[in-house]
Amino acid sequence: MCGIVGYIGERQAQQVLLHGLEKLEYRGYDSAGIAVFDGQAIRVKKKLGRLANLENTLNGHGLPGVLGIGHTRWATHGRPSDANAHPHGDCTGRFVVAHNGIIENYLRLRQELIQAGHQFRSETDTEVVAHLVESLYDGDLLRTVFKVAAKLRGAYALVVMSAEEPGRLVAVRKHSPLVVGLGDEENFVASDIPALLNYTRNVYVLEEGEVADITAKAVHCYRLDGTPVSKEVLTVTWDVDAAEKGGYEHFMLKEIYEQPKAVADTLTGRLSDDNRAVLPELHWTLGMARGIDRIHIVACGTAYHAGMVGRQILERLTRIPVEVEVASEYRYRDPIYTDHTLVLVISQSGETADTLAALREARARGARVVAVTNVVGSSVAREADDVIITWAGPEIAVASTKAYTTQLVALYLFACYLAQIRGAADPATIEEVLAGLRDLPDAVSKVLDTAPAMKAFAQQFAWKESAFFIGRGLDYVAALEGALKLKEISYIHAEAYAAGELKHGTLALIAEGVPVIALATQDHLYEKTVSNIKEVKARDAHVLALTWTGDEEMASVADEVLYLPRVSPWLAPAVVAVPLQLLAYFAAVERGNDVDKPRNLAKSVTVE
Ligand code: G6P
Repeated sequence: MCGIVGYIGERQAQQVLLHGLEKLEYRGYDSAGIAVFDGQAIRVKKKLGRLANLENTLNGHGLPGVLGIGHTRWATHGRPSDANAHPHGDCTGRFVVAHNGIIENYLRLRQELIQAGHQFRSETDTEVVAHLVESLYDGDLLRTVFKVAAKLRGAYALVVMSAEEPGRLVAVRKHSPLVVGLGDEENFVASDIPALLNYTRNVYVLEEGEVADITAKAVHCYRLDGTPVSKEVLTVTWDVDAAEKGGYEHFMLKEIYEQPKAVADTLTGRLSDDNRAVLPELHWTLGMARGIDRIHIVACGTAYHAGMVGRQILERLTRIPVEVEVASEYRYRDPIYTDHTLVLVISQSGETADTLAALREARARGARVVAVTNVVGSSVAREADDVIITWAGPEIAVASTKAYTTQLVALYLFACYLAQIRGAADPATIEEVLAGLRDLPDAVSKVLDTAPAMKAFAQQFAWKESAFFIGRGLDYVAALEGALKLKEISYIHAEAYAAGELKHGTLALIAEGVPVIALATQDHLYEKTVSNIKEVKARDAHVLALTWTGDEEMASVADEVLYLPRVSPWLAPAVVAVPLQLLAYFAAVERGNDVDKPRNLAKSVTVE
């Protein structure tokens, strides 16, 4: 998400900040800014768009000074704009802040600060921090930051500087990463190591709840309660390319491993203590929610598979008929709308041409459109009536992984929300789904342990010509996504079939040694799936079955079994996705493919 860089030393800060921000561009951003202390006051320049826009404004009007902070912003609260770009200042301009993450209680804090006379210039959650520093400042920036942090809820990384104490930067890490770069008579702070490698390889990695007090000569670290912490210097041996990938060989693998956090971030603030799905971003009246009589879900690629899961959960929980269709077909089909049709579009990028066209068509026909997207300020987000953001963070690999699992989370939340406000048709399933969502980050984290097994399996079958994925119910949808992942990056011909449909044709393709990945997480369909596995086994297929831990039967049916941590079968697609992503990843690596940029494919398809 956002990128932060801070510098204190003898060099001109502007160059260090711009260079550092450039190295953080891979994180994705929509605007950028820097603040530099010029010996008298802090001067700030911020610009919407690429870093080059900011550099152009600084051309000939640079900010001189040896203390500064810089930021690339990935919009969360407030659309991308010059005003919403960071750093943000207080009313007096004596304090500036750069921030990554979300301040969950910012609305209340903002109201309190406005009542106390503070004037806000942006729509961001971050700006409350600058005003809080101003109102709590007691002559010592470190002490003030402790007091400010005690008032903030959420996940964030902050870097604060003050014209009152121009020899100092204070940085806080709470969930969002920060590293301090150690130089000679100069020090640095950044969201990630690549921003520092031009200047130093010695770093302190701040841990959860740690604060760094940074001057040019020294760095002191504390816990948030003020206890000093002694840090070990980490010497970075990776090159810049590896550092951007956080030490992972590919962005895809990094993004697969980011899923527990992405899922947790997407759930943040959306599950109430009294077990309700909370989506304050939907400004719906009861009448509107109760009136919906039909839902169309429209998306492309992986997002379409998320929509297929969404259909099953929405129909079960709300009893509203749901259609799901790929956007390229939907937009030309002349679909039938009632006066109360709701259209749900799902798009990671928010820029996919067909999805956007479908959205426009639906709105032109009078339907209300809810968008599930990962990019605040994207075209889909701007044009939809309501937007549910997935907090996956930028996804760089072409093959979608963490965006998919967070789309599933958004759809589960939406289905529970709609069912709850309409008067739940099936309260027991809502409870099961909400309880499962709470535990989902943990389950996704555990299922990452299947990586060695998936690697071994992938190495066995990486050179096969084709593979089949089978399952029933939600396992069929998970199979479609598994097959798509494998096709996209390994280039192995992969097909997914509803297991019960095999014998109507595809069974003819099953021969000795053909890999079949069978999914068996839907308890009510388990026995039927086992029968289908036996059908392919009888034709000598090589079967890898994915089932829950504790299944004692599967080992005698399939050739290999991968056991998954049990979750509610409704949530199974979010768990099953992970080993299937790993399978595709390791098969692609084994074949020597360009995993992050597979041939012929693009991350964002902005043409028809
Ligand atoms: C492309 C990407 C896929 C993605 C699809 C839809 O095909 O390669 O990973 O699922 O577009 O993209 P969207 O941004 O609309 O989710």
